[in-house]
Amino acid sequence: MRILFIGDIVGKPGRQIVCQAVQGLVAEKKLDLVIANAENAAGGSGLTPAIYRELIRAGVDAITLGDHIYRRREIYSVLESEPNIVKPANLPPESVGREWAVVQGRNGVRVGVGCLLGRLFMKPVDSPWQAADRILADMPSDVRVRLIDFHAEATSDMQLMGRYLDGRATAVLGTHTHVPTADECVLPGGTAFQCDVGMTGPFESIIGRRIDRVMETTLTGRPTEFDVATGDVRLCGSIVTADPATGRASAIERLCVRESDLAALQPSEK
Ligand SMILES: [Fe+2]
Ligand SMILES: [Fe+2]
Repeated sequence: MRILFIGDIVGKPGRQIVCQAVQGLVAEKKLDLVIANAENAAGGSGLTPAIYRELIRAGVDAITLGDHIYRRREIYSVLESEPNIVKPANLPPESVGREWAVVQGRNGVRVGVGCLLGRLFMKPVDSPWQAADRILADMPSDVRVRLIDFHAEATSDMQLMGRYLDGRATAVLGTHTHVPTADECVLPGGTAFQCDVGMTGPFESIIGRRIDRVMETTLTGRPTEFDVATGDVRLCGSIVTADPATGRASAIERLCVRESDLAALQPSEK
């Protein structure tokens, strides 16, 4: 089966390209499931119920989040009620949301989804290693295909998580830095891995935000609004091919859809 994992959707530009591209990608790339990290979907930080529904309508089957999960508290009700959205599993146990989800692909195969936060250069959280062990143990054993989003800053941590879960997860894919890395591979145990699949949003930016604003604040110390940028919008993610019977990945392929690619992607009426 083929699973597309879309990296951090940033603000309106990110949402728009998801809405324009996903249906066409499902057809063209023969995708069975689409998972997306939506921690920056609402104005660059957080997620709202309306945007959650917009992404699901666009063809996203499951949503992961990150350090900005609770930036918009309206999302609490969705995190509590919806079966296809997960919180980082190493947040405090009292935090709102489910630690893992099982969603069904278009081919009928059930897929486990989880996400974890890194700890280097990030707010203190519980051990992602123990949380990874816990959610993999808690998922139903007949769910063989399992995708973990590791939302982390450091490539060393990312690589370590890939190796830690090699053979236990179908894919360990990174988010959070918003910069796609060119290291996609299938590890020896059959786990597809990439340090960061990259963001879905405006690349004419500083990780999605207006360059002039970030520059001014950095150079002068004056606070500014880090508005979401607008130029050179891309959808970044990776497509993992896996065997539903074993959960082992056989291939991973980087994906970058630019605005100029959209016309060719429109789902044709067949
Ligand atoms: Fe992000
Ligand atoms: Fe993040």
